[in-house]
Amino acid sequence: MDHTSQSPAIVQGGMGVAVSGWKLARAVARTGQLGVVSGTGIDSVLVRRLQDGDAGGDVRRALDHFPLRSVAAAVIERFHQPRGRAPGQPYRLLPRPRHGESPHRSAWSMVAAFVEVFLAKHGHDRPIGINLLTKVQIPTLPTLYGAMLAGVDVVIMGAGIPREIPRALDQLADHRPATLRLDVTGSDPRSEVRLEFDPSHHFDPLPAPLLRPQFLPIVSSHVLATTLARKSNGRIDGFVIESPSAGGHNAPPRGTLRVDADGQPIYGDRDTADLAQIAALGLPYWIAGGQGHPGALAAARAAGAAGIQVGTLFAFCDESGFSDALKRQVLEHVLAGDARVRTDPRASPTGYPFKIVEWNDAAGSAPDAHGTRHRHCDLGYLREAYALADGSIGYRCPGEPVESWVRKGGSIEATIGRRCLCNALFAAADLGQTRPEGTTEPPIVTSGDELRTLGTFLRGRTHYSAADVVSYLLDGA
Ligand SMILES: Cc1cc2nc3c(=O)[nH]c(=O)nc-3n(C[C@H](O)[C@H](O)[C@H](O)COP(=O)(O)O)c2cc1C
Repeated sequence: MDHTSQSPAIVQGGMGVAVSGWKLARAVARTGQLGVVSGTGIDSVLVRRLQDGDAGGDVRRALDHFPLRSVAAAVIERFHQPRGRAPGQPYRLLPRPRHGESPHRSAWSMVAAFVEVFLAKHGHDRPIGINLLTKVQIPTLPTLYGAMLAGVDVVIMGAGIPREIPRALDQLADHRPATLRLDVTGSDPRSEVRLEFDPSHHFDPLPAPLLRPQFLPIVSSHVLATTLARKSNGRIDGFVIESPSAGGHNAPPRGTLRVDADGQPIYGDRDTADLAQIAALGLPYWIAGGQGHPGALAAARAAGAAGIQVGTLFAFCDESGFSDALKRQVLEHVLAGDARVRTDPRASPTGYPFKIVEWNDAAGSAPDAHGTRHRHCDLGYLREAYALADGSIGYRCPGEPVESWVRKGGSIEATIGRRCLCNALFAAADLGQTRPEGTTEPPIVTSGDELRTLGTFLRGRTHYSAADVVSYLLDGA
């Protein structure tokens, strides 16, 4: 997908936070398929890696190539701890994202996305993509711009309706100011609040124009694909069509939410995208969710798709960013046959169903086993903006401490079952915060339903590489 070569057959799904980091994306790209980094929370990923010492020097090597030298120097000076953190020492935090934040704050997202894409592209000439969650709005523009400064080839975005991204990509490629609408709960719909990002606040003079990456929205229905194709404010280059079996966040079922005996959302026929209608839009598409087995690629192509997007199989490979201990545990429980994936309609503060890996926990080893998680909200990526009586904007998250959410006008009911997902996902990538009482934030592991069949792929192996996944998927294609 370098605009001259053919589309890739396999897209490695973007997996946040830091699960599809540069190591995974690069390993996949080297096999000739599309490697995708996650841009979610990437600014905090960068500063935590530096505080952990940046062993091997990769982050600092990438920073050496960042065009704004003073920004790169400031990042290293403020956050690099050559010997890593002392035992019990918490990570230093960045200010949480907010509307109207200073160019100085936006620069952290920009430089972090640059580093991730730069490293993913290093050592080969294959394209690299970046994945962002549409719902996490505030860091989007500087993250996209930083990724584009590193030459990102594809932008893939789901979890929301990314209607305004195409034009923003055009603008950023020419270093023009770009804006996106910020959703503000309770605000007057007539007074739009816009997020703004202006490259000229960072560069003088402006550099040469950048490559405008291809844009692939992730959708779960042909209705949304059609709306995006017709009503986006610029060029869309294709779609990822994701079914509810995919890992991470899922689209909610259409209509009234009904749950099964385990409290999982029940999906029906109306939740299956009509591929013929999507094909009629004339754009290439990749099918995601439950495609991680031999034969899936051939079947997808026979149905008119350009290929498949796969996450779960890649999520537990050697190059993925999940902590080694968690990967080992998950694979052990898959082999023992007691790993389960539950679709939790409440866990994510976004309101989207979110898949969580669980297993029988006699030894107390399951992530998040005892419900000991405390609510913190010190990362703040999933906070919603809401209108305050004086016309200004506040921020709140149903996963934050209940009293503070209620003080901000939220209902108690909205907090039930919600998890402090930002902290939990950083913890799963070995970037969990150390708390004053000496504990480390407990992780949550997400996966697609296909985890159930991972045993068939493992054939007794206790670990495997991204290249093993690609050969398996190409088998028989
Ligand atoms: C661990 C994990 C994290 C994920 N995180 C994201 C994410 O941050 N953004 C996103 O668009 N999709 C995310 N996904 C979905 C994948 O990109 C991909 O579409 C999906 O995994 C494909 O289905 P499969 O899991 O059956 O292979 C995630 C999936 C997994 C397994």
